[in-house]
Amino acid sequence: MIFATSRLALAVLAGSGTANALYSIATADDIRKTAAAVAYDLMTYYHGNETGQTPGILPGPPPAGDYYWWEAGAMWGTMIDYWKMTGDNSYNEVIKQALLWQVGPQEDYMPPNVTASLGNDDQGFWGMTAMLAAENGFPDPSPDEPQWLALAQAVFNTQASPERHDTTCNGGLRWQIPLSNNGYNYKNSIANGCFFNLGARLARYTGNKTYAEWADKTWDWMESVGLMTPGYDIYDGGHVEYNCTDINKAQFSYNNGVFLLGAAYMYSYTNGSDKWKTRILGLLNSTLTDFFPDGVAYEMACEEHMSCTTDMLSFKGYVHRWLATATQVAPFIKDQVMPVLRKSAEAAIATCTGEANGRACGFKWNKRVYDGSHGAGQQMNVLGAVSTLLIGQTKVPLTNSTGGTSRGNPNAGSHSDTFSGHSTPPTMADKAGAGVLTFVILAGAIGTFGWMSTGV
Ligand SMILES: *[C@@H]1O[C@H](CO)[C@@H](O)[C@H](O)[C@H]1NC(C)=O
Ligand SMILES: *[C@@H]1O[C@H](CO)[C@@H](O)[C@H](O)[C@H]1NC(C)=O
Ligand SMILES: *[C@@H]1O[C@H](CO)[C@@H](O)[C@H](O)[C@H]1NC(C)=O
Ligand SMILES: *[C@@H]1O[C@H](CO)[C@@H](O)[C@H](O)[C@H]1NC(C)=O
Ligand SMILES: *[C@@H]1O[C@H](CO)[C@@H](O)[C@H](O)[C@H]1NC(C)=O
Ligand SMILES: *[C@@H]1O[C@H](CO)[C@@H](O)[C@H](O)[C@H]1NC(C)=O
Ligand SMILES: *[C@@H]1O[C@H](CO)[C@@H](O)[C@H](O)[C@H]1NC(C)=O
Repeated sequence: MIFATSRLALAVLAGSGTANALYSIATADDIRKTAAAVAYDLMTYYHGNETGQTPGILPGPPPAGDYYWWEAGAMWGTMIDYWKMTGDNSYNEVIKQALLWQVGPQEDYMPPNVTASLGNDDQGFWGMTAMLAAENGFPDPSPDEPQWLALAQAVFNTQASPERHDTTCNGGLRWQIPLSNNGYNYKNSIANGCFFNLGARLARYTGNKTYAEWADKTWDWMESVGLMTPGYDIYDGGHVEYNCTDINKAQFSYNNGVFLLGAAYMYSYTNGSDKWKTRILGLLNSTLTDFFPDGVAYEMACEEHMSCTTDMLSFKGYVHRWLATATQVAPFIKDQVMPVLRKSAEAAIATCTGEANGRACGFKWNKRVYDGSHGAGQQMNVLGAVSTLLIGQTKVPLTNSTGGTSRGNPNAGSHSDTFSGHSTPPTMADKAGAGVLTFVILAGAIGTFGWMSTGV
């Protein structure tokens, strides 16, 4: 009591108002309370469970609302982690309904509504969330419904199929799935990163080495084509008509995060191999150096001039969550990672004094004041940062032999649409750019670039 009162008094004395008293990460209990408030505020952006709305999605896609389909998939992952970290199950039914509604007719996270902007990364984010559910014993759907592990396998299998892995650029996944979509001619790091991440996790969960072979192959491809440099910088992508040599060197934090977590799972799967240890250390070094200057998460490609798109405004949260989980499957990085995540989370909550939408967290964490920027991504970032501070008190992700109960199907996704026999013309909205990455960066100078839609 005394503590709480004096913190409140200090906040008032500091002139920052009582709003700050709500946000504290001083004790585990404070973390749970703060996370609960931020989770509640995040969920005010979700209307899919209201009459007449579509379950599972955030308002969108543009121009109908701010959010592309993938971001809701990422949000459900954030909410599953919230439940895992805090034990608060009040959103579990909403999460389950959302994840099951969006599976699509072949139960592979390719619902026809989103075909015209469907990227491997978009599908991958939903697949990674299904995998997270399986790994953490999130309540299994009833037996007649799709199962978490089988959904993750379906996403993986569709992405491993020969139609998706053509020989242009010597391999690798394209960004978009249907050939008529803008961006079908672009092979990028996030599409391959999601596939790598899922492969590594399926390998560890099932023990099936086919998944690990694909993960290995994908990492090797990233290096061979120059999307991952010897210094562990990860660039955005390149076009097939240039054999992927026209590399767009923009760097985004989620690319580092998705590969780092996958590498940590490969480390675990290989019983602690030196090969994956070296890669983890190298990638961790570049990630902390580039995306956590002064120990606070920073989206270097767009934050300074606030040129981040809605998509980019959500990357910090994934990086926090993925780094935290990486400390469970590759514990040798824990002492290096956790202090950074804590300092970054401290800065994050200092931005949560906004009054937009009732109460809001901002985006420029290193300013440590609300910067006027608010949205589902900004809330997700802070929720990911705060809730995962409890990672040390939670169970290591399960496998099929350590208590995981999710039922799988190694052949899931084998009846999926290959989009080879027909094409769907993009709509106007998609022509304006759609999917996880809606742009190609034009100018080279940091902070002075412009944006345009893909398909150049
Ligand atoms: C939708 O979910 C929210 C939790 O985010 C809950 O508070 C609300 O009651 C739900 N609405 C309906 C109509 O079920
Ligand atoms: C597809 O869109 C229709 C019309 O908005 C909606 O009723 C349906 O639930 C959507 N399907 C999915 C899987 O979101
Ligand atoms: C291992 O995974 C591959 C790829 O999905 C699948 O074809 C194979 O049947 C799986 N093996 C077992 C034993 O489940
Ligand atoms: C394309 O690039 C790869 C390296 O990524 C190289 O091995 C291959 O020879 C190149 N192909 C052509 C046609 O230039
Ligand atoms: C890891 O160790 C287990 C138990 O000794 C063994 O069965 C398994 O084959 C090993 N995995 C790899 C990828 O070496
Ligand atoms: C970390 O990266 C910096 C700069 O990229 C490099 O000088 C340093 O040797 C790296 N440290 C390790 C341990 O890899
Ligand atoms: C997972 O474990 C169950 C129960 O032990 C077993 O029946 C099943 O074959 C396992 N599945 C895989 C893919 O290893």
